[in-house]
Amino acid sequence: MRIVITGSAGQLGQALQARLKGEDLLLLDLPEHDITNYEPMQQVILPFRPHVVVHAAAFTNVDGCELQPQVAYRVNALGTQNVALACQRCDAAMVCISTDYVFDGTKSEPYWEWDRPNPQSVYARSKLAGEYYTQALLQKFYIVRTAWLYSRSGKNYVKTVLRLADERNELHFVTDEVGSPTYAPDLATAVTELIHHPLYGIYHFTNAGVCSRYEWAKAILELAGRPDYPIFPTQGYKRAAQVPARSELHNFCGATQLGITLRPWRQALEDYFDET
Ligand SMILES: NC(=O)c1ccc[n+]([C@@H]2O[C@H](COP(=O)([O-])OP(=O)(O)OC[C@H]3O[C@@H](n4cnc5c(N)ncnc54)[C@H](OP(=O)(O)O)[C@@H]3O)[C@@H](O)[C@H]2O)c1
Repeated sequence: MRIVITGSAGQLGQALQARLKGEDLLLLDLPEHDITNYEPMQQVILPFRPHVVVHAAAFTNVDGCELQPQVAYRVNALGTQNVALACQRCDAAMVCISTDYVFDGTKSEPYWEWDRPNPQSVYARSKLAGEYYTQALLQKFYIVRTAWLYSRSGKNYVKTVLRLADERNELHFVTDEVGSPTYAPDLATAVTELIHHPLYGIYHFTNAGVCSRYEWAKAILELAGRPDYPIFPTQGYKRAAQVPARSELHNFCGATQLGITLRPWRQALEDYFDET
């Protein structure tokens, strides 16, 4: 299969490269390949004649999006439009990677794939705009919403917690933000399976189960061999962006239609540390 990966140097991009080894890959990322440039995007994607484009590139700094809304919309909305238009022109299927943040987080139960989004931040609104372009321009699309991604490469919460634990004597993390930590290699495996089936639509792929930021940090420190490090629960962390209080995603479509499920988040985190 000929497959394009945008955002190929990012956490998910690198995990996808590992999973798709053996396929014919075209890897696109900054600085050479900027998805916000319409014509160059067409010129690089069309001659490759991809079967599938996995679009993982995004401006992922959630607070940064709040401070730079024009950049957020340019990359996450219009950049996605450019990628979708290339897919349209070469009849490729597109996987648009999206986020749990499209929901407002007020639902006490997991969000189904067809629950109504209600984004509360610039990042979330710009990602939802990317979803809309994908749906409006293409028939062959998969929208894959995920959450709280981490991997050995790139910046993420796991690395931040470990760095802060080195720098400070104690740490405080919130209990009023609940979600599903998702190991990028597990998501890459699910996406790799998905693209072999023409069951287009919206999917929710996260590692199973939920925890608060506090519980996640506690698990990270335990698995890093620092179970006695002083860590305390808190609430109401002030940040630029408003994020969902609880954003559990129900993986109904992937599990029901294709038997694609992701293991519990704690098991995946154990693997992350075993790989060290
Ligand atoms: N990280 C999470 O917790 C999370 C949660 C839910 C959903 N998602 C979604 O999952 C996808 C993958 O996330 P990730 O964690 O792998 O992100 P990541 O590590 O930040 O990787 C994104 C990649 O896209 C690149 N990029 C940014 N702007 C670009 C542009 N204009 N043109 C081309 N490439 C550009 C980035 O380059 P630079 O690093 O040079 O900017 C980076 O290499 C994204 O769509 C994200 O919105 C992520």
